[in-house]
Amino acid sequence: MSKKDYERVDLTIRSNTKDILAFTKLVPQRKKRIQKASAEPIKEDPVNDLAEKLHPNRQYLVIDGIIDNTKSTKTYKLIPDPDSKTKNLAYFRPGQYLSLKVLVNGDLITRPYSISSSPKEALEGFYKLTIKKEEEGGFFTPYIWDNWNVGTKVTSSGPEGFFYYEPLRDYPQIVGLAGGSGITPFLSMAKSINDGTLNAKLTIIYGCSDENDIIFYDKLMELEQKNPNKLNVVFVLSCDEVSLQGCETGFITAEIIKKYADVETSSFFICGPQLMYEFVEDELQKLDLTPKQIRREAFGEIKNIEKFPGFPNNLANKTFNIKVHIGKIIKDIPGKSTESVLIALERAKIGPPSKCRSGECGFCRSLLLEGDIFISPVSDWRREADKKFNYFHPCSSYPLSDLEIEIPRNLQ
Ligand code: FES
Repeated sequence: MSKKDYERVDLTIRSNTKDILAFTKLVPQRKKRIQKASAEPIKEDPVNDLAEKLHPNRQYLVIDGIIDNTKSTKTYKLIPDPDSKTKNLAYFRPGQYLSLKVLVNGDLITRPYSISSSPKEALEGFYKLTIKKEEEGGFFTPYIWDNWNVGTKVTSSGPEGFFYYEPLRDYPQIVGLAGGSGITPFLSMAKSINDGTLNAKLTIIYGCSDENDIIFYDKLMELEQKNPNKLNVVFVLSCDEVSLQGCETGFITAEIIKKYADVETSSFFICGPQLMYEFVEDELQKLDLTPKQIRREAFGEIKNIEKFPGFPNNLANKTFNIKVHIGKIIKDIPGKSTESVLIALERAKIGPPSKCRSGECGFCRSLLLEGDIFISPVSDWRREADKKFNYFHPCSSYPLSDLEIEIPRNLQ
């Protein structure tokens, strides 16, 4: 070895030794700093401040405008409540939702709604939520239609959910399969592509019963014309007589999907009513996709759980007793086999925290101490460890016997 080589090796050994010594001093030095630190709470905490801005537990909003979209759909423009401390809205990713917290006849009800505006518009100071009035049986959307006016104060969660484009996971070609008001996350994506905050291509295949049922027709056409290489919108109408030029008819079938999308290099995002999922999922099966290529928006509570395979029909509409532990309090409440455990808890005014109502967010996670439940097969998002140790999500679980459960306190 030359002298230069010896010098180089010597330098490397010395710098490595220095690194090792510095590492061994790390912990004692940290301990000294902790001992010297003041016991006073820190006045400025930029990390937690940023976390609070991005993921607030609650946002206090006020309705600034209402647009009638179709005979059964309205869009509400929400701005920060000038009377609240927070003047900014939390940023979000197109496709995420807000969980509304609304007092209906004395009961605090939570419901998730996808944001139909773009993240850039949140920076400008507003969100838009598009809400379709339930046709039958529902009480939440009729309440909103009758009671929400310009100036009404509204409380929501921060932006939530995983139904967004992620370049590390998804193909840059998104195919949005939408039904009815399930168009809202795709409108947010289309607006974001248009304003440059989302770098992807989007083909929306939008199923509606007829032309009058299409929400945002003009806006979608305008965005498509402005972005011909990045955005394509295809309408699929199921009515008998169709006058809209260039649309497809019937339902969103595998043939229609193949006609407009390169199946092997696209990620498929589905959002719409429960019936549409059932149909579209069967069609997607014919395309031989990898599981990673299919993304589903959590669509809220399941309707007609008794129609799902595996639900014991002899137990439909039976009522059971649910013994509920909340901290040291124990309560007995009734629970119907065809209504989720979450609904039974809310009816008894002891609802745990909840956001998605689809088994996805984990906020209502509770412990099953005794009894049998039916878990909706399309909204079972529990972790493997939770399954093993009997944790369950009341929003997607239905009592099949008397139950004993432990739920978290609702501090929302
Ligand atoms: S409310 Fe989200 S998992 Fe139950």
